[in-house]
Amino acid sequence: MRKYVFVATILTAAAPAFADRMPIPSDALPVFKAECGSCHLAFPPALLSAPDWRQIMGRLEKHYGDNATLDEATRRRIEDFLVANAGSGRRTEGAGAAGGVLPRLTFSNWFRHEHDEVPKGAWSDKRVGSAANCAACHTRAEAGSFSEREIRMPGGYRHERD
Ligand code: HEC
Ligand code: HEC
Repeated sequence: MRKYVFVATILTAAAPAFADRMPIPSDALPVFKAECGSCHLAFPPALLSAPDWRQIMGRLEKHYGDNATLDEATRRRIEDFLVANAGSGRRTEGAGAAGGVLPRLTFSNWFRHEHDEVPKGAWSDKRVGSAANCAACHTRAEAGSFSEREIRMPGGYRHERD
């Protein structure tokens, strides 16, 4: 456990703004926010790799049980934007799924690590419903801000601060 914390500290020191701020790029396409932010948060593009985004954008008619189809010109513009702003390495590893299942940023090793102290009951609270429902706990998720100070878990769950 100590070793784990130590490694995390080095990574944080190397990239100070990494953990708690993942803004949507300031030049984000308005159409991305409008189309991909209507059913859920417009997820920060850096949380998935370019191949993951291509896979998601290539299957919008079967989008996690929903139909998110767009006209081809719009689909193409959004895909190009996501690929140009995609992440890589530690942040996206583990997100890609095998066997025809779509990738999920909530599957990544990074996501699991950041949330390893979230109590089970908080995940299953009906106001949360899914790990992808970032804004249920991160009050400023819409603004791309995930600072620990801004976390309010439904049901009054608390997490241990280091
Ligand atoms: C019609 C509603 C709808 C639209 C529009 C939509 N989505 Fe989704 N999306 C969903 C649903 C439902 C899920 C599954 C959520 C869950 O499991 O909690 C999902 C999940 C996702 C996930 C996986 C989240 C995770 O669990 O890690 C990503 C990534 C994603 N959507 C990207 C997009 C992008 C990019 C667009 C725009 C092209 C988009 N979505 C538009 C309904 C939608
Ligand atoms: C059930 C509530 C909950 C949900 C849903 C949730 N988080 Fe979190 N998140 C937390 C808690 C609590 C922490 C602090 C955990 C810890 O210290 O182990 C955290 C930590 C983080 C951190 C690190 C913050 C820092 O300052 O180090 C990031 C980034 C983050 N979450 C992003 C997300 C994203 C993106 C989503 C949606 C895809 C999401 N979270 C969904 C509760 C949640």
